[in-house]
Formats: sequence, C-alpha cells, structure tokens
Amino acid sequence: METLLTVDDLKISYKSGNYYIKALDGVSFEIKEGESLAIVGESGSGKSTLGMAIARLLPPNAIIEKGRIVMKDIDILNSKPDSIRGKLISMIPQEVGTALSPFHKISTVFEDVMASENKATNILNEASKILAFLGFKDPERILKSYPHELSGGMLQRVLLALAIIKRPYLIIADEPTSMVDAPLRINIVEILNAVRKEFNISMIIITHDIAITPHLCDNIVVMYAGKIMEYGKAKEIIDNPLNPYTKLLINSIPRIKTATRFEVIERKNTQIQFYKGCPFADRCESFMKGICDITIPRYTSLGNRKVLCHLYNDKK
Ligand SMILES: Nc1ncnc2c1ncn2[C@@H]1O[C@H](COP(=O)(O)OP(=O)(O)OP(=O)(O)O)[C@@H](O)[C@H]1O
Ligand SMILES: [Mg+2]
Repeated sequence: METLLTVDDLKISYKSGNYYIKALDGVSFEIKEGESLAIVGESGSGKSTLGMAIARLLPPNAIIEKGRIVMKDIDILNSKPDSIRGKLISMIPQEVGTALSPFHKISTVFEDVMASENKATNILNEASKILAFLGFKDPERILKSYPHELSGGMLQRVLLALAIIKRPYLIIADEPTSMVDAPLRINIVEILNAVRKEFNISMIIITHDIAITPHLCDNIVVMYAGKIMEYGKAKEIIDNPLNPYTKLLINSIPRIKTATRFEVIERKNTQIQFYKGCPFADRCESFMKGICDITIPRYTSLGNRKVLCHLYNDKK
C-alpha cells in the first residue's frame, strides 16, 4: 500500500499573552492509502491541534515550530489552505454546534462549499443522495432546515455530508461520538465505516473513547502531553498495551462507556510544560526513579509497534 499522509516531527505551540503553551512535541506517523487511524488520549493531550494542523485549520495564535506534513507529495504546511481544505482533507470539528452559520439554510451551505468547484452536477441532488446514504429519511427537509433546527447527532451527519461532497482523500472527525447517547454511538460508528467503504476515503478519528477504536480504525496513536506514547495496530494495542499510559486508558474502558469525556482518570498536569524526563513520569505505575524523572525516553520499535517508554528502551 502506498503512503497517503506523512507527519514528521511536528512541534506546535500556542501563544497566550506572554506565554507559549506546548501542544505538540515531535509527533511523527504515517497513514497508508485506504487506512483509518484513531488518535486517542485525554483532554489537552494535543489531539485536536494535530487534526487542525493536518486540515490547515489551526487558529491564528498557533505557531508551527518544526515539522512537515506531506500528502501525496504535496507539502501541506506550505500550500494555500484553500487548496487543501475540503479538496484533499476535510475536518469535522469538535464543536459541531457552532460550525455552521445560524443564518443559512443547509442547502445554502452545500452550495457555498461547492461554489468554487465548477461542477456540472446538480449540487443539491448530490447533497440529497449523500444525506440519504448517511441515514436521513427525508433529506429534502434537512436541506431546507437551519442548523438550530437539527440535533447534535443530525448536525454531525450534515457536517459529514459536507466533508464527503468534494471527495477528499482524508476525513478527520474530531470526537464524532461525544455529542450522542450510547445507542447512537454505535450508529455513528456504522455510518463512518460505511462512508469509508462506499467513498474510499481514509479517516482519522479523534476520540476519548478508545473502546470504539477497533471497530473503526486499523491503527491507533495514543497521545499524552503532545507526544505519541504508543502507535500500532488497534487490535494489538487494545489486547496488549505496552505503554503504562495506554494500559491506564484501556483499564478505564468500562467507566468510559458511561462517560462522554475522560475525567474518570485523575488528572494532575496533562499540560506539563516543563519536565526533564518522561511526561507521564509523575503518574506512572512503573515509574523508575533516577531514569524516568531525569531522562527523556526514546521510541522503541517492537514488531509493528512503536512505544515511548524507558521500560522498553533496551528491548528489541
Ligand atoms: N487556541 C488555543 N490557544 C491556546 N492554547 C490552546 C488553544 N487550543 C488548545 N490549546 C492548548 O493546547 C493543548 C492541546 O490542546 P488540544 O485542544 O489540541 O487538546 P485535545 O487533546 O484535543 O483536548 P480535548 O480532548 O479536551 O479536546 C492544551 O494545553 C490546550 O489548553
Ligand atoms: Mg480536542
């Protein structure tokens, strides 16, 4: 399989007054064509920042300090955002409630999105077909609606339709299951899988809900404090997590099922800005004094797996 997307040593900070907040700290991974990747990790670990960087949707106070993002030989970070957004990569944002203008009908939003495309196809016909594929019984009514007339789950599917209509190579869905109740979560997982098959689009699914990832994704990136702690095949990671942080995430799965967010895990200082050793050292069950607190761990490759942890640094 050919490589679709390469993220290489990405470092991003946000400027906030006189401070700089480190959001991504040397993130590298690859997605092959047709593959789907989950990005998991608790609040503040840098998941949305990573998604927004790839989709060229970072806010103005974000500073890309280092790194490259390449898709199909296109240097994403040095291209015009308009040549990327929607065409190559679409992102469904975390806050779907504020993603669409309250003054425009859904039909107008589809027409605006397609305005630059010069396509001969009937846009609203095409939108209606995609909405029907996504499970809407009466797509015409949805097209005539304003955003406030739709529920969070409906808006999510409308935004998915808007993401699909230009047929990008990659769709990034930020917390697609957080707006909906448990039964609908399964529904969204099924819809995302169907979209992937039908439209042959790769996906990045950003989620707190590690439990859904093997049903949706081939690979998982586990993030903590802006770093990838573990990266590998979804099923292998869930069955046999190596990094102590991944173990903690997976052990909390039964509780995650009743919570939409990750507050179940005690949070001390996820947004650690200054640490000498491993960012997870102060919360780690396998903490080794004199090593984890003073030396930055290196990545170790174990089969398909990449893991950032001193426990594995000497094992191959
Ligand atoms: N616009 C911003 N300005 C300043 N700091 C920001 C901004 N957006 C994010 N941050 C900070 O960057 C870090 C990473 O945030 P990010 O939103 O990427 O995390 P996340 O993993 O998506 O969290 P969540 O699960 O809560 O959505 C955090 O420390 C956060 O406070
Ligand atoms: Mg986020």
